[in-house]
Amino acid sequence: MSQMKYRILFVCLGNICRSPAAQGVMETLVSERGVSDLFQIDSAGLYGGHAGDLPDPRMRAHARMRGLNLTHRSRQVRSSDFDDFDIIVAMDDSNFDRLKALAPTPVDERKVVKMADYFTMHPYADCVPDPYYDGAQGFENALDLIEDGCRNLLQKSLSSLSNSTK
Ligand code: 4NP
Repeated sequence: MSQMKYRILFVCLGNICRSPAAQGVMETLVSERGVSDLFQIDSAGLYGGHAGDLPDPRMRAHARMRGLNLTHRSRQVRSSDFDDFDIIVAMDDSNFDRLKALAPTPVDERKVVKMADYFTMHPYADCVPDPYYDGAQGFENALDLIEDGCRNLLQKSLSSLSNSTK
């Protein structure tokens, strides 16, 4: 039944801060809703220099304070991701533009969306800013935005799934 799953890929630059956090948040949300079986969730980075690494220790520490255990190993985005996922969620405009440019077909290009399009509680935010060179507040801000976006993305994904089975 794997073809019935809604497949979500979160993407940032390094795949060690924002996108593995988004993956962890989304996995927790679907588990809490009892719908884990309906989703396949992964994350990747446009830059491959951290491939194989666990998330940045600072992001793991801030995520842990919210009850999240981030264990994803970084990997680079690959062209097969456009076949393997239904939606590819970019953390910022640069990620978005680069993913669009990598998309093999116009149909694949339409799979690429911005996390900011799902924010409901942060009307003035237009991306999940890269916290890599920031202090603690940058990581907290990224997690606040990611939690907001993922809650709405889950609602919309559940609607897509229910429409696709009608
Ligand atoms: P991320 O943060 O894109 O949220 O994983 C970054 C991690 C590493 C680098 C840049 C951003 N880097 O240049 O190594």
